[in-house]
Amino acid sequence: MLLGVNIDHVATIRQARKGIEPDPVMAATLAILGGADGITVHLREDRRHIQDRDLNMLKDFVPVELNLEMAATKEMIGIAIKTRPDFVTLVPEKRQELTTEGGLDVGAQKTHIREAIKKIHAAGIPVSLFINPEPDGIHIAKQIGADMVEIHTGMYANARGTKKEKELTRVANSVRDAVDIGLLVNAGHGLNYDNVSRIASIEGLRGLYIGHSIVSRAVLIGMERAVREMKELIIKAGGKS
Ligand code: PXP
Repeated sequence: MLLGVNIDHVATIRQARKGIEPDPVMAATLAILGGADGITVHLREDRRHIQDRDLNMLKDFVPVELNLEMAATKEMIGIAIKTRPDFVTLVPEKRQELTTEGGLDVGAQKTHIREAIKKIHAAGIPVSLFINPEPDGIHIAKQIGADMVEIHTGMYANARGTKKEKELTRVANSVRDAVDIGLLVNAGHGLNYDNVSRIASIEGLRGLYIGHSIVSRAVLIGMERAVREMKELIIKAGGKS
């Protein structure tokens, strides 16, 4: 099973100072050294984390699958066609949200999404749709020409007690339904070191797309070394330890 690493939140830290570090392109290189099979970035309309420059550089430097997450807007479709990622994942986008909150409402936006898929396909780029674990959405995704779907695992990740089992079953059933009708099937959102195993054991999944928990862990496991390196520089310069 593939692991696509979402590096948006490396850019979130950089944008806190609007400076040049940490560079998401370097983070992508290190993620690949760690075994990432793909790199994902979400270019948001408000550019709150990933910038156009990041996407262009990643396109040049990333030797593994580059997945561009984006809203199905005219501007983003233009950028996708120009940049040519390995595939595009269409997601809903709201300005006020902290992260993508739900899957695409493919039922309500059928025509709009079909048109977006057509335009992206015309440039030879495959399209995945981020959808909730519901049978209707899966069938509509196929109908309107999607190559892949990414099943939203956020409800599973957030559920507690008996609800967790129900949500896991919804994800597993959705994966099976989507595979049965010939879609490639991924899953993601809210996956972390505690909850990933049960999703990773679902048969038929092509890949998992994980961001926040990996970047969070990277900050913590890198802290000791980062402080040690700074301390060494201070001592070397004559500062007392
Ligand atoms: N998949 C999609 C479609 C997303 O929008 C996100 C969040 O950007 C992810 C996966 C990764 O989610 P998380 O950061 O919670 O691992």
